[in-house]
Amino acid sequence: MDSLMRAAREVAERAYAPYSNFLVGAAILTQGGSVYAGCNVENASYGLSICAERNAATTMISTGGDDRRIKSVAVFSPNAAPCFPCGACRQFLREFGCEEVVVEEASGLRRYPFEEMLPNSFGPEHL
Ligand code: THU
Repeated sequence: MDSLMRAAREVAERAYAPYSNFLVGAAILTQGGSVYAGCNVENASYGLSICAERNAATTMISTGGDDRRIKSVAVFSPNAAPCFPCGACRQFLREFGCEEVVVEEASGLRRYPFEEMLPNSFGPEHL
């Protein structure tokens, strides 16, 4: 979990967030052990901004192989501790079976079962 959070922390330095100045990094650990990182990318047309978690997930899909199930996602922001995924990102991560969210709290890293992040969620198996 330490190395996953380190990956989230590193990619947060690459965030493009000139409008909010709120930098976020996310690192996904797949069931197969691969790590995919992403940062938030904002846009002058504010609504088009993309969160770090969704960028990490789309990188997993577009650059990875069949190992597309998410075990954990670590989220880091130098602007907020802990930094939790927004509602849209929770649903996006849910698509790929995310099992837990790791955030940095004052006392250290804390893991939250995904069911606590998005209870009674809707997913592909419901279609
Ligand atoms: N943001 C993320 O990247 N992930 C989150 O879970 C929370 C919000 C970004 C979106 C926007 O670029 C900035 O943080 C402020 O909302």
